[in-house]
Formats: sequence, C-alpha cells, structure tokens
Amino acid sequence: MTAAIIDGKAIAKDIRAELKEEIEALKQTGMTPGLAVVIVGDDQASHTYVNSKERSSKEIGIHSEVHRYPADYTEEKLLQKVEELNNDDRIHGILVQLPLPKHISEDKVIDAIAPEKDVDGFHPVNVGKMVIGKDSFYSCTPYGIIKMLEKENISLEGKHVVVIGRSNIVGKPAALLSLMHNATVTICHSRTKDLPAITRQADVVISAVGIANYVTADHIKPGAVVIDVGMNRNDAGKLCGDVDFNNVKEVAGAITPVPGGVGPMTITMLLFNTVKAAKAKSA
Ligand code: GUN
Repeated sequence: MTAAIIDGKAIAKDIRAELKEEIEALKQTGMTPGLAVVIVGDDQASHTYVNSKERSSKEIGIHSEVHRYPADYTEEKLLQKVEELNNDDRIHGILVQLPLPKHISEDKVIDAIAPEKDVDGFHPVNVGKMVIGKDSFYSCTPYGIIKMLEKENISLEGKHVVVIGRSNIVGKPAALLSLMHNATVTICHSRTKDLPAITRQADVVISAVGIANYVTADHIKPGAVVIDVGMNRNDAGKLCGDVDFNNVKEVAGAITPVPGGVGPMTITMLLFNTVKAAKAKSA
C-alpha cells in the first residue's frame, strides 16, 4: 500500500482564498485586519520567515507592518514597542519573532502582548484557555495540523494520537488540541523508552523532533496517518522532515511531505488568527 499524500500547499491555498473573501467583506464594513510583526537581530532564517509572513498577509489584504530592529535593541524599548502596538487600533495581531537576542527575556515580551492580539497563541492566558478546553488563539503549527486533518476528513475522535516532541510551540499544543478533538493522546520525547513500540500503537503520529529520518517504517502501524513537522537539512543540504518519507509512505495510510505539508499551514493559521482577532474586535 502506498500512502495518500496530504497536500498542505493546496489546503493552505484554499484557506487563504476563503480568508481573502472574508477580509474583503470586513473591508466593506470599514474594518481592515492588521498584523504587526516585530523582529530583533539579524538571524537570516528569521528574516526569511518574517518576509514570508509580510508577503502572505499583503496577498490576502491584511494591513501588514514589520518593525525591524538591530541585535542590540534593548528589552525596555521592545517592551515599549509592544505596548504601543497593544494600543494601536489598526493592529489586531502582534507577533514578535523568536528567538530573541539573549539579553531580552522572551517570557517578559510574550507576557507583554495583549492576549486578544496574541495571534501566535504563546501568551499564558491563551495557553491556559486551551488547557481548559476554551476557545483562544492556538499556536499556528499545531492548529494548522488540526485544520489540515479536518480538511482531509480525517477525524481524531477516539483515535490514538502519538505526539513525538514536547515543545511549548508544537508538541504540547498538538497534544492538547488532539485531546480537544476527543483523541486518546500520548506524548513521547527524548527520554521515552522504546519509542517504536509506542508509535506502532498510533492511528496518527505527529512528529516534531527536528532530526532527519528519525521516524522510520518500523515506527508506523500499517494504515496510520503520519504528520511530519520537521524542517531539517539532510546530508546533501536538502530540506527534509523527521520522517523517512520514502519508506514510511509504503506503510502509512496518509502522510504529509516536507516541503509542502505542514509548513504552508503555519503562516496560513497566523493569517486565520489575525482575521479572527479583527472579527472579535468588530463584533
Ligand atoms: N520562530 C519560529 N517559529 C515561530 C513562530 O511560530 N512564531 C514566532 N513568534 N516566532 C517563531
């Protein structure tokens, strides 16, 4: 059996087209959703991500601002900027690109963002709401996975979801969102013993490890759904995920490729959250 390939790029395109229509309708009522992205320092990968967020926002009609600061920008000035954006009526979503330079406390900066503008879903208020099963802003990558499964008509109800990775940005929220969709959830991580014995019980495996070829065919139950969050480079420098795609696709029922799987969904959900924040403001 060869797995169905889940086309994240196509799903993301559909959702962005829906958002564009929604934004056009909002504009008719005098409301333009606004997103402010703040980046400090000169990490090239971060700048590439931020440029992509800016371009994607503009493409669907979101008012987009990027505030770029040098690596020696102070924590105090950054906190002031966040406060200014919290009070700016044109801005509905604020994203401070991580990582920040070492002299700036990421926790302090995230805590300073108004929860109703925290389109990354990183603020403790939004994380806490998610934990107790309430609507809030959910972290974009795991939320993108859930949306992608919905669009593919893959229900999580009663399924055993095994998440590999326990980061605050991906692993933990992926587990909580799966639970919210009535899955039975197991979280595995670097200290887990006999990982393949656990993942072989999974109906859905979500891998967010950051190591190329970490998940092999013997980790996977025949017919299982495999979601690959990894963004790694292989020995040849080519972008690849955590999953040994060529071998796993012969066992799995459905699988996301890298690139073109989860990746395009992350920015899409940032746009989704920005529109959601704007609609909440106009309601
Ligand atoms: N750095 C890498 N991914 C992300 C993300 O989703 N949000 C923010 N703010 N920074 C990141």
